[in-house]
Amino acid sequence: MSNLPAVLITGASSGIGATYAQRFARRGHDLVLVARDKARLDALAAQLRDESGVAIDVLQADLTQADDLARVEQRLIEDTRIGVLINNAGMGQHGGFTQQTAASLDTLITLNITALTRLAAAIAPRLTQAGEGAIVNIGSVVGLAPELNMTVYGATKAFVLFLSQGLHLELGPKGVYVQAVLPAATRTEIWQRSGMDIDALPEVMEVGDLVDAALVGYDRRELVTIPPLHVAERWEALDGARRLLLSDLRQAQPAERYKTLA
Ligand SMILES: NC(=O)c1ccc[n+]([C@@H]2O[C@H](COP(=O)([O-])OP(=O)(O)OC[C@H]3O[C@@H](n4cnc5c(N)ncnc54)[C@H](OP(=O)(O)O)[C@@H]3O)[C@@H](O)[C@H]2O)c1
Repeated sequence: MSNLPAVLITGASSGIGATYAQRFARRGHDLVLVARDKARLDALAAQLRDESGVAIDVLQADLTQADDLARVEQRLIEDTRIGVLINNAGMGQHGGFTQQTAASLDTLITLNITALTRLAAAIAPRLTQAGEGAIVNIGSVVGLAPELNMTVYGATKAFVLFLSQGLHLELGPKGVYVQAVLPAATRTEIWQRSGMDIDALPEVMEVGDLVDAALVGYDRRELVTIPPLHVAERWEALDGARRLLLSDLRQAQPAERYKTLA
């Protein structure tokens, strides 16, 4: 058993989550791996135990199912060894807005928003009490880009960014580090699962490069990490413009331009 905090990773059976698992195992952290596909989780756990000698638990859960989500929440509440949550499980959007069904909307929002938020809420009280720990939420640059035609998926990822910014303000002063990671197109199964052809994209990041860059941001205790963004000042300018806009809100009166129709 490691002296480092254990790391619970959702969506650890493939892609970004599986890569986080490998990287944290190499750093010597014990792991709790969560996803639906138990065979894949068991195989990854066996490989990482062999490679790194860390202790690994597998927790099979479909995070869109109430009972399963409650089991993972309970684990985060009770298992005091877990000091880091990688809130990574997520799914993409198949088709445009008018092609969505009630069920597909429900699943997408439940996994990308509800489960992620509830898991953060399950661990946050324990971490704030301990005065340490980390919550990493995997968002997406799509959350900044309504132009990309993945409207509901992008909206879920805009939620993840906002949630992370708010949690940083609430939990940061209590010693809890919060990070939002915003990948762009990264070579994982999510594209195929969403019915999209990754080979049709002009540029794709390899998943190891994405996670290694995200971990540089993590080690720096950066709030928002955008591995594909080469000009860091663009994010600072966007966030600065947002704060400037807030400073120009006057609550008592509507703005002059809304007082006449002309
Ligand atoms: N790849 C990209 O281009 C990209 C870009 C931006 C953001 N992201 C974000 O990165 C995160 C990871 O995605 P990825 O690219 O690594 O895709 P991925 O390879 O498809 O991995 C998704 C993971 O989530 C798990 N998962 C899916 N539905 C689940 C459910 N109902 N309950 C529990 N686990 C579930 C999957 O495992 P099981 O099937 O075994 O459950 C899998 O381990 C997502 O939040 C995604 O939105 C990806």
